[in-house]
This record gives sequence, structure tokens and C-alpha cells, in this order.
Amino acid sequence: MMRLREMNLADIDAVMRIEQHVHAHPWTRGNFTDALKSDSVCRVYEAEGTMLGYVILMPAVDEAQLLNISIAAAHQRKGLGRKLMGEIMEIARGMNMRRILLEVRPSNVAALGLYRDAGFSQIGLRRGYYPADNEREDAIVMECVL
Ligand SMILES: CC(C)(COP(=O)(O)OP(=O)(O)OC[C@H]1O[C@@H](n2cnc3c(N)ncnc32)[C@H](O)[C@@H]1OP(=O)(O)O)[C@@H](O)C(=O)NCCC(=O)NCCS
Repeated sequence: MMRLREMNLADIDAVMRIEQHVHAHPWTRGNFTDALKSDSVCRVYEAEGTMLGYVILMPAVDEAQLLNISIAAAHQRKGLGRKLMGEIMEIARGMNMRRILLEVRPSNVAALGLYRDAGFSQIGLRRGYYPADNEREDAIVMECVL
């Protein structure tokens, strides 16, 4: 039985294990503790006590920024990212958000695929937004109207 619950400080070790494994440019522990202290919606997705993934959504007035959505490597490509996205969209709707915005690296094929699948479309491009190995990488800006 899968369930979504509030993330708390005790989850950070498990979150960081996934984060460092699945991201080329992972968040730091501090990024997660800051998110927990903020108004962001921080949820973990788990089944029988095993963390499958997590999501961080930052609401601002009537639109929300999707800051992080991750599924543990061993559980990827089984539809869990799609389910988690569906759950966070429901939460955003319940908070009367009009749309969800996000930024994504053009090289992140899996995330781009998930976002398009979930109904996001590109509305902009920020040049050289992300640090990358040698130079900088653009950010594709996407939105999904709820
Ligand atoms: C992006 C991510 C959350 C997707 O989670 P997932 O559980 O593997 O995705 P799903 O199985 O639900 O896939 C849903 C759809 O997304 C697309 N997709 C997912 N992974 C993909 C991949 N590797 N390549 C291309 N498309 C992909 C497909 O359209 C897929 O539908 P399909 O399997 O029917 O073809 C996961 O790959 C991940 O955690 N990546 C590392 C963290 C990250 O980059 N997060 C986003 C930025 S914060």
C-alpha cells in the first residue's frame, strides 16, 4: 500500500540517499531542511516503510513552483513518478493554485518525459541558469494549468 505523508527532519537521511543517487546535481541537506522550515509542501512517498520518492512544492499566492520530484532508482519507470505528480497536483488544486511552474534541465530526459506526460508545456527558456560540469546549462520553464 503506497502512501504520501508529510516529510519531517527524521526523513532527511533516507531522502539524501535517494537524492545523491538519482541527481547529477543533488540538493544539499540544507536545501531540504530549509524547505521543511518554509511554507513548502514536503511529502514522502512510501510503501511498507520503504521510501519510494518525495516531492517539494512551493506555493506562492495562486501559483506553485515544483522544486523537486524524485523516485528512488530501483523504483523508477514503474509509473510512480506519474502517480506522485498526480497527488501533488491534487494537493495544489486543493490549495487553490491556478498553475504549477517548474524549471528543468534540457538534458533531464526522464523529467521532461514525466512533465510532458503530466500535461506541462514549455513557456520559456532561461539561458545558462544551472551550473553544469564545464559551463552552464539552460533551464526550460514549464507550466501546467490546473
Ligand atoms: C523524473 C522521475 C521522477 C520519473 O519518475 P518515474 O517513476 O521513473 O516515472 P514514471 O514511471 O511514472 O514515468 C511516467 C512517464 O514519464 C516519462 N519518462 C519517465 N522516465 C523516462 C525516461 N527515463 N526516459 C523518457 N521518458 C521517461 C514517460 O513518458 C513515462 O511514461 P511511460 O513509462 O508510460 O513511457 C525519475 O526519473 C527521477 O527520480 N529522476 C531523477 C530525479 C529528477 O531528475 N527529478 C526531476 C527534477 S527535480
